[in-house]
Amino acid sequence: MSSPSARPATKAVIPVAGMGTRFLPATKAVPKELLPVVDRPALAYIVEEAARAGLPEVLMVTGRNKGAIEDFFDRTPELEAALEKKGDADRLAEVRASTDVAQVYFVRQGEARGLGHAVLQAAAFVGDEPFAVLLGDDLIDERDHLLEQMLAVQAEHGGSVIALLDVGRENIDKYGAVAVEPRPDAAAASGDEVVLVTGLVEKPPVDEAPSSLAIIGRYVLEPQIFAVLRETAPGRGDEIQLTDALATLVERGRPVHGVVFSGRRYDTGDRLDYLKAVIRLASERDDLGPPLRAWLHEFVADLPAEGASSS
Ligand code: G1P
Repeated sequence: MSSPSARPATKAVIPVAGMGTRFLPATKAVPKELLPVVDRPALAYIVEEAARAGLPEVLMVTGRNKGAIEDFFDRTPELEAALEKKGDADRLAEVRASTDVAQVYFVRQGEARGLGHAVLQAAAFVGDEPFAVLLGDDLIDERDHLLEQMLAVQAEHGGSVIALLDVGRENIDKYGAVAVEPRPDAAAASGDEVVLVTGLVEKPPVDEAPSSLAIIGRYVLEPQIFAVLRETAPGRGDEIQLTDALATLVERGRPVHGVVFSGRRYDTGDRLDYLKAVIRLASERDDLGPPLRAWLHEFVADLPAEGASSS
């Protein structure tokens, strides 16, 4: 087993160059990462999650048509002055918090050559330290501290750590899938299981998947990943896959651990799950929750039986 890393991770990388085809035509002119989840962009939740986990420096790997993301994380003196003049202290605080939450940097991916290629663009920013990667489509409920747990596992065991979720065998072909061995000595603070990853494959056919455990969009990576990514050939979808680079690290004997997440995760990249996330999060809010819950009860009572959803 490797020695634990000398330096803990302090930086986060968020790839945001994806085209958002599942939300067209909404995403023709608005980056999918800025679609609102209740009243904040999905991306704001992700940046806040990184900051809460102790990663105040965030690099966004952007692409063409993503200029609005830079605008969102920029200061808006005119807007702030207008809110100040109106005496709207609450909204002013919200607007300021959205930019003050982290130090956000940007780099352009240039060509869309896959997640591994996007992560490689962060090499100069990251340097020789472990770092986190957060994918914008996966929203982790702020009451569940997945990233903090992963950082703790990385600090203790070294190597890399990925977040895993049992998605059922029938869904595994949409994800990176892993083979694992138990690590009963290494449970996370929350009680989430920690496993040793022994193999990874990107979006395998259902009948070839090593397990029903999927990689969800949180990674804590050792900087050795960059050298591996530079020599990783395009894989699934003719793209340079982060999953393939992790598989190479495992083959070379580097430790890769998995935290099997048992908390609340919303896939805001999927239209149905996006709607569920908006309703669930709004219904739990102090301001919107009470009237929304009252309305939902009435709405559901009036739904015809065939309209009922299965999950
Ligand atoms: C990416 C990764 C995949 C992972 C997924 C999690 O795929 O390549 O291994 O399971 O994110 O959301 P994408 O969803 O970008 O196709």
